[in-house]
Amino acid sequence: MTKIAAEPLSALRARTSYKWQTYPADVLPLFVAEMDYPLAEPVQQAIISRVLASDTGYIAGPEPVAAAFSRYAGRTWGWAVNPDDVRVTTDVSVAIVECLRQTVPMDGSVVVTPPVYPPFYELPPEAEASAVEVPLLLTGTGWQLDLPALEQAFARGADALLLCNPHNPLGLMHSVETLRAVADLSAKYGVAVISDEIHAPLAYEPGDFTPYLSVSDAAREFGLCVTAASKAWNIAGTKCALMVASSDRTRLQLDSMPDEVAARTSILGLHATVAAYDDGGPWLAGVLASLAENRMLLAELLAAELPEVAYHPPAAGYLAWLDFRGLGWGEDPAAVALEQARVALEPGLRFGRLGTGFARLNFACSPQVLTEAVTRLARVRATPSGGAPV
Ligand SMILES: Cc1ncc(COP(=O)(O)O)c(C=O)c1O
Repeated sequence: MTKIAAEPLSALRARTSYKWQTYPADVLPLFVAEMDYPLAEPVQQAIISRVLASDTGYIAGPEPVAAAFSRYAGRTWGWAVNPDDVRVTTDVSVAIVECLRQTVPMDGSVVVTPPVYPPFYELPPEAEASAVEVPLLLTGTGWQLDLPALEQAFARGADALLLCNPHNPLGLMHSVETLRAVADLSAKYGVAVISDEIHAPLAYEPGDFTPYLSVSDAAREFGLCVTAASKAWNIAGTKCALMVASSDRTRLQLDSMPDEVAARTSILGLHATVAAYDDGGPWLAGVLASLAENRMLLAELLAAELPEVAYHPPAAGYLAWLDFRGLGWGEDPAAVALEQARVALEPGLRFGRLGTGFARLNFACSPQVLTEAVTRLARVRATPSGGAPV
């Protein structure tokens, strides 16, 4: 397996994406979830070959990518997905909104579990519903879903749960037992579960990830999986995501979506996604090897230079949820990091009120950039006048 190295800053700064255009050149951007690695060659070739063939019209249907995902899910997680149960759309955010439109009545409510990926607060309103918070619990063994509180929310009439599995920003993978308990509650109260599994291919131990629809009949009856190759293969801009059903009820939900939901999928995204699932394994293994090193490097750097910042390495993904409260950088440490260290982090406050005093750091960069970022942060802490607002 060949480790994949991040591109140099000079090449990265020439990218036109959000990560590289938002801040001036003196800022190290470790905020949005884009990676600094070059694309997997099979993915590049898939896009290039379609462009060279002038094959840039509308997609003919989900079949090629449905089959590729079914092969990938079987190989990676032993999860048997019937390709006929897979539909496509532009991206996972749209997939979530469209699934909510099918499962939640107008003015209904959707449970979200903060601290969580910020758009989870914005997607239910797009589907004319509201988000209801059931925060995760921090226990002696780490973060977990609060099952009793979920049951209370379901009993009070919630219509759906938006599950993040693995959970962004913690890189937490919910256990089989927890997912089964969620499925039992969903069946007891007739609550839909939309399981966002976009980070699943980024599990450091693939066997630790459990696809929600694989856990029980109850999960399959009320659950829908939404996912994409976009996070793991860094192709968010190519616009293709998947929705997976596993029961007559959820198949009907997917079949009830307007045809345009699928038609908006990019043909380039579809072919890039097929290549990622079928031929992107070696590249992903190389990226995960680099990420695994950065995941531990970050722990070492923080221990040496910023021991007040608490960090639990994620079990999946390249996002680190950093607790700055021991440093006294106030409610929004990302603001201090940007202003005084010229390091752009994602403000914890965007992830719900449990994010007060936290920030999220993206370590899908070179070890040099990561080291420089922590050094810059530590320099602020070391400078008496660098005292931050509390
Ligand atoms: C949990 C989660 N869901 C969805 C998305 C967005 O996916 P998309 O770009 O396909 O809408 C992200 C992006 O980081 C994410 O972390």
